[in-house]
Amino acid sequence: MQIVRTIPDLRAALAARPGRPAFVPTMGNLHDGHIALVRQARPLGDTLVASIFVNRLQFLPHEDFDSYPRTWDADCARLEAAGCDIVFAPREGDLYPEPQTFKVQPDAQLADILEGHFRPGFFTGVCTVVMKLFSAVFFASGGGTAVFGKKDYQQLMVIRRMVEQFALPVTIVAGETERAADGLALSSRNGYLDVDERAAAVQLSQALRALAQATLAPGAAPPAALEQQALELLAQQGWAPDYLTVRRREDLQVPQGSVSSGTLVALGAARLGRTRLIDNLEF
Ligand code: PAJ
Repeated sequence: MQIVRTIPDLRAALAARPGRPAFVPTMGNLHDGHIALVRQARPLGDTLVASIFVNRLQFLPHEDFDSYPRTWDADCARLEAAGCDIVFAPREGDLYPEPQTFKVQPDAQLADILEGHFRPGFFTGVCTVVMKLFSAVFFASGGGTAVFGKKDYQQLMVIRRMVEQFALPVTIVAGETERAADGLALSSRNGYLDVDERAAAVQLSQALRALAQATLAPGAAPPAALEQQALELLAQQGWAPDYLTVRRREDLQVPQGSVSSGTLVALGAARLGRTRLIDNLEF
């Protein structure tokens, strides 16, 4: 497995290999969810590239950029075992040698709601770094495939729209959310939870499941009322929820009129102690 730090070195490494890359971008601290994406991506290209880069642009000043877990040796061992060919791990100065003043501004309808509402600028930071990573990985070979997890459902949709609108020669493939035995979605931020919080953390996915079931129940109350109940229950359980909501899968807007299963997604974000977790459930 090759480790490269700079965009020119990555392009040179890719130029020396025939065919097209499959790419999995990450911020490191890899868990089974990331590794599942790498295994899914492996047969989708000739060369498998994973990136590890904690992207300052997508963190607000009060967020956990500095404390975000960095586990380089373990990450490399896991990537190698999963069949990764190239790890692209730029230092901050390699990706942003000067302040990144040109940015990718995503569609507000999609990117200023939900996560974007509670983390202003988040998706601008994500789109900007993903565009730059795509430039580094795909421009030499003329395109390829990138895999993103449904765990970050809105991110996946924003990236899909970016690829469409800029006509990027990149096929976006979605990976299912990997969960712990109790149902908690795997996340690098789960490591912030203490023992009691870890035991309670599954309540977020339980709340989403209950909200989905209540939405489809015959004679269900209006969606806003069900969401309010779900928020109150989670708050009673000691969480500080940002949102729990049912949206259309296709555009993440509020469903109008009667709802039918197979077209919806319940999305949620909430803080337990100092840890902010997100999850979602298609139904
Ligand atoms: P990160 O949080 O490291 O996630 C990298 C990829 O792993 C994303 O596509 C994410 O959706 C996926 N992922 C995370 N948890 C998962 C789980 N439990 N099951 C399956 N997939 C999971 O998302 C980012 O990094 C960044 O925003 C990035 C796209 C790298 C841009 O900086």
